[in-house]
Amino acid sequence: MEKLIVTGGPPSLKGTINVSGSKNSSLPILAATLLTKDQCVIRRVPDVSDANYMLQILSQLGADVERASGNVIVSAEKISHQTPYDIVRKMRASVCMMGPLVARLGKAEVSLPGGCVIGDRPIDLHLHALKELGAKVDVTGGYVIIDVPKDLEGKEINLRGKFGSTVLGTDNLMMAATLAKGTTIIEGAAAEPEVIDLADFLNKMGAKITGAGTRRIEIEGVSELHGAEHTVIPDRIEAGTFLVAAAMAAEKSLNINRVRADHLKAVIEVIEASGHVVTVSGESIEVTRTNNSRGAKIQTGPYPEFPTDMQAQMTALLVISDGISTVVDTIFPERFMHLPELQRMGAVVERQGNTAIVEGPASLTGAPVMASDLRASAALVLAGMRAKGETEINRLYHIDRGYEHIDEKLIGVGARMERKRV
Ligand code: EPU
Repeated sequence: MEKLIVTGGPPSLKGTINVSGSKNSSLPILAATLLTKDQCVIRRVPDVSDANYMLQILSQLGADVERASGNVIVSAEKISHQTPYDIVRKMRASVCMMGPLVARLGKAEVSLPGGCVIGDRPIDLHLHALKELGAKVDVTGGYVIIDVPKDLEGKEINLRGKFGSTVLGTDNLMMAATLAKGTTIIEGAAAEPEVIDLADFLNKMGAKITGAGTRRIEIEGVSELHGAEHTVIPDRIEAGTFLVAAAMAAEKSLNINRVRADHLKAVIEVIEASGHVVTVSGESIEVTRTNNSRGAKIQTGPYPEFPTDMQAQMTALLVISDGISTVVDTIFPERFMHLPELQRMGAVVERQGNTAIVEGPASLTGAPVMASDLRASAALVLAGMRAKGETEINRLYHIDRGYEHIDEKLIGVGARMERKRV
C-alpha cells in the first residue's frame, strides 16, 4: 500500500498542467470493443487502475489486448460470456460489460457490483433496459445471468430513474441496441459528454445512433459492427480538479491544457462565482487566483449541471473561501466521506442529509487522513497543498483508480508531495 505526503503552505503552483484522456469515457469504450471480431484501436486511454482492470477483464474474456503509450489495441475474435469475479468485483463500471456481451453472444454472466462507499448504487435501470429489449435476466448467487431466448428487439424505453438519468445504464442499452432488430429509442437518456464519446465510437464501428448528448437517443439496429479507431475525449473531471487546484494554490495563475472548456461550464461558473478569473483559449484554460475567494452555492445534477464527481474537490475550495457555502449532492446523497477528513484538517463544515454547510475561511493544518473514494482523495490532496505542515493521505490506491500520475503532474507545476510505501 502507498501513502502520499503533501507538504502544504503558501500558494506555489505555476506553469502548465496537461489533462489525460477520460477514464469514464475509456471504460465503456473499451467494453464496446467486444461488439466486433475486428481489431479496434483506442487512443489516450489513461494509465489508471480502473482502465487496467477493464483491460484485464477483456483479456480474461479471451480478447487479445496490447497497450503502449496510452494506445490500446483490442481484437476480440473469440470471447466468453463469463466475466471473472475477482476483477469485476473491484470495479463497479464492469456492469457495462453486460450490454456488449448480450448483443454479441446473446448471453452474459456478470458478477453483481459490490458495495460502494459513495452510497447505494443499484443497477435496476440497466436490467430493466435489457429486459425491455427481450433478454431474460436472473439475479442469483451474486451474479446477473442474462440470456436472450430470441433476438434482441428494439423498442421505446424510458430510462429515467428516481435520481434522474443513468450514465452507464444509457451506455449499456445503447451498446445492446446497436445489434438489436429494429429501432430502439431511449427516453430520459444521460447526456454526459462520455455518452456522446461512446456513441461516436459506436458509429465509427458502423452503428446508427442519433441524438447522443440529448435526453432522447435513437438507435437503428444493424446486423454487424466492424473495427474502428478512436481517441477518447479529455477527462473533464481531472481538468476540473486542476481548475480547483489553481483556484486554491496557484502562486498567481495556472494553465490547464488539453481540455474541452465546453464540458466544464458548470465548474467554471462556480470558480468564477468564488472570485477567481478564468480565461479560455482554445484547448487551454488559465485560472488566475484571487486572495479574496468567496463562498458559493453548489448543487450537483445530471450534465450539464454541476457534476457529482467534482463535489468533493469544490468543497475543499469552499472550505478556504470567505462566507457560508452550501453543497447539495442530489445524485449521491451519501457522498460526503471527505467531510470528516477535511474537519480533521480544520474545516468548519456540518452535514445535514444531502447537504454540507461550509463556514469559511478556515486555515487548514496538515493531518493524517484517510482516502475513502476517488474524488474524496483528490479533495484531500488539494486541501493538503494549502494546509500548514504535512498531510499524510493513506489508502492512495483510491486516487490511482482515476487520476493518471496526479502527484507527478502537480509536482511538475510546483507542488510538494512524495509517495511512500507503507
Ligand atoms: N441509479 C439507479 N438505478 C440504476 C443506475 C443508477 O437508481 O440502475 C441511480 C444512482 O444510484 C445515482 C444516479 O442513478 O443516484 C446516477 O447514477 P449513474 O448510473 O449515472 O452512475 P454510473 O453510471 O454508475 C457514472 C460514473 C460515476 C459518476 C456517475 C454520475 C463511470 C464509470 N462512472 O457512474 O463516476 O459519479 O456516472 O455522474 O462513468 C467517478 O468517476 O468518481 C464516478 C463515481
